[in-house]
Amino acid sequence: MNLGVNIDHVATLREARKEQVPNILQAADLAYAGGATSITVHLREDRRHIQDEDVIQLRKSKKFKLNLEMAATAFMIKFATRIGPDQVTLVPEKRQELTTEGGLHLRKLWKRLRQSVQTLHRAKLKVSLFINPELEILPIAKQIQADAVELHTGLYSLSFKQEHKQGSTPHALNQIKICALLAYQMGFQVNAGHGLTYQNVGQVARIAEIQELNIGHDIVARAVLVGMKQAVHEMVQEIRRK
Ligand code: PXP
Repeated sequence: MNLGVNIDHVATLREARKEQVPNILQAADLAYAGGATSITVHLREDRRHIQDEDVIQLRKSKKFKLNLEMAATAFMIKFATRIGPDQVTLVPEKRQELTTEGGLHLRKLWKRLRQSVQTLHRAKLKVSLFINPELEILPIAKQIQADAVELHTGLYSLSFKQEHKQGSTPHALNQIKICALLAYQMGFQVNAGHGLTYQNVGQVARIAEIQELNIGHDIVARAVLVGMKQAVHEMVQEIRRK
């Protein structure tokens, strides 16, 4: 199972002060040292965390497999063809949302998505579509000629807390299982992500057809805590040195 570590929220912390720290390349390096198999970043229209230059630098370094999440806008399609990430994940985007709330509306957007995929394929880029785990969406993803689908695990993550407590098999987990199986049989690379945590990842990681998980917020949140003692210790040392 591959793990794409989404480092958007390292940039969120940096943008809170518009400083140079924490450094995105260092964060990517450390994620790799921990076992990440790719680095995921979402270049949002409002540039609230990751900036264009971050993506350029991550690509330039050539150390990382880069998964670029983005909206299927003309600007972003052009940007992606120029940068050449290893995978482009097309996601829906709303300015007001805190995070990507749902999968792409393939039925409504299929024409635009098909064109976007064709342009990205001409640039030899692999394209994944972020979709809700609904069986009927998969044939449309096939028509769009995506190489991969990323199954949205947000609903599973929400229901995990409630359903798990009651001891029932989460319906949302079954949806992911059956979609992963069909998507795999249809020839897609199957990815999954959103809202995955240390507590809920196990059941998704056990789904054999899923090849890649993309996880961000919970890893960055944990990194802040596991790094806190060391960070304070280093500051105390500096203060004592004076
Ligand atoms: N996959 C996609 C397509 C996303 O948009 C996001 C959030 O940026 C993630 C995975 C990671 O979600 P989380 O930060 O909740 O782990």
